[in-house]
Amino acid sequence: MPQIESPKTYPTSYRVKSFGCQMNVYDGERMAELLGSQGLTAAPDGVDADLVVLNTCHIREKAAEKVYSDIGRLKREDGTSPLIAVAGCVAQAEGEEIMARAPSVKMVVGPQAYHRLPEMVREAAAGRRSTDTDMPAETKFGHLPARRRSGPSAFLTVQEGCDKFCTYCVVPYTRGAEVSRPHADLIVEARRLVDGGAREITLLGQNVNAWTGEDAKGRLVGLDGLIRDLAAIADLARIRYTTSHPNDMTAGLIEAHASEAKLMPFLHLPVQSGSDRVLKAMNRSHTAESYLRILEQVRAARPDLALSGDFIVGFPGETEAEFEETLRLVEAVGYAQCFSFKYSPRPGTPAATMDGQVAPEVMDERLQRLQGALNVTQLAFNRASLGRSCDVLVERRGKLPGQWLGKSPWLQSVHFTGEAAIGDLVRVDLVDAGPNSLSGRLALQVAA
Ligand code: SAH
Ligand code: SF4
Ligand code: F3S
Repeated sequence: MPQIESPKTYPTSYRVKSFGCQMNVYDGERMAELLGSQGLTAAPDGVDADLVVLNTCHIREKAAEKVYSDIGRLKREDGTSPLIAVAGCVAQAEGEEIMARAPSVKMVVGPQAYHRLPEMVREAAAGRRSTDTDMPAETKFGHLPARRRSGPSAFLTVQEGCDKFCTYCVVPYTRGAEVSRPHADLIVEARRLVDGGAREITLLGQNVNAWTGEDAKGRLVGLDGLIRDLAAIADLARIRYTTSHPNDMTAGLIEAHASEAKLMPFLHLPVQSGSDRVLKAMNRSHTAESYLRILEQVRAARPDLALSGDFIVGFPGETEAEFEETLRLVEAVGYAQCFSFKYSPRPGTPAATMDGQVAPEVMDERLQRLQGALNVTQLAFNRASLGRSCDVLVERRGKLPGQWLGKSPWLQSVHFTGEAAIGDLVRVDLVDAGPNSLSGRLALQVAA
């Protein structure tokens, strides 16, 4: 059947759908701003858009497969499709394959090339398909419009790419080498976000704690130096950072958890496994023991620290005994929250061709046990907060009338009812706890 082409006119409305990590959310916002600067308007929910950007994730098999089903679902009843751009990590990894498999996709644009989207949209409107998966030496950031409006909690990419090459992971291939954005640019962008309404900024990087740069006085500083300079922005109340690698947890950054009041007591530090043999095969370059020592140091700096991590079960060759080492590590740490995944072989990564691939039913069973253990520690962490009061940054309305949702300093979701507004920092007494959220009661005193 002949492919019915979209009408060859310049689009007036767009939708950006982001999948995967927080950096993709950030990239999605910047693509939306870029399209906005070209005169396009965001299509409201449920309304058909002329241009759809699928900002994709390649981290696990299901995430990548989703792209093709999403492309299929964009087809309209009359057989036409909007202009479709595939962006993000699947675009980077499988650009050519997407172009060949999905004729309705008119643009394929990688995570380091999306500043060229306006040009590609013009080409697409003229009926020409284009692919751009370059990783130019000059980064995209200088070509993007300045930030304007922001919600109370904003993301700010400070570092991109990864040089760690864990044997299971596609990120070094899809995002490229580790690059730190310049200090001065980050201060400017953070100020714009705060002027636009942000009260909390989460600094993002695939290895965010590998960030380095020259500060305003020309000194080479690490992430702790950047955090201190950002903390000087008066209306910025909270700073977070994610994702960190154990190898880049410097003494300076650990110390910042003790001395910098705006740095929230939360650390997402993935460990992946509790078994040293598995960690070595993963090329993680830390052991369970060295990981635990880092946690001890950060906890000594900030005793109320909430910890989070990532785990992979069923890495090739993982034995039952090695998996049990992971369970023991979970019990020893007492995580506040965690992400856990079944190992997914990714094409082109060393682990995909390793011996001893673990059977799916074994992975299912291990994941269930791990998540059971994580739920226990998560609930225990939330219950331990009961009776405390804390500041909650109000992010949105809840489902019930008068209800609000926000985050505690420990990144717990807290809901409460009463007088508040989005962007307020309010004092809340924590009165009830589940594994995934807490309920609170507005305390009398308003914090800020
Ligand atoms: N840069 C971050 C995040 C990487 S991706 C870091 O180093 O932690 C987020 C998580 O996805 C990883 O921490 C890992 O737990 C998981 N992940 C990555 N590749 C995977 C794979 N092939 N199969 C299953 N989980 C994977
Ligand atoms: Fe992937 Fe490892 Fe890099 Fe994290 S540190 S992005 S898991 S290669
Ligand atoms: Fe996914 Fe790419 Fe992020 S693979 S997790 S969108 S860096």
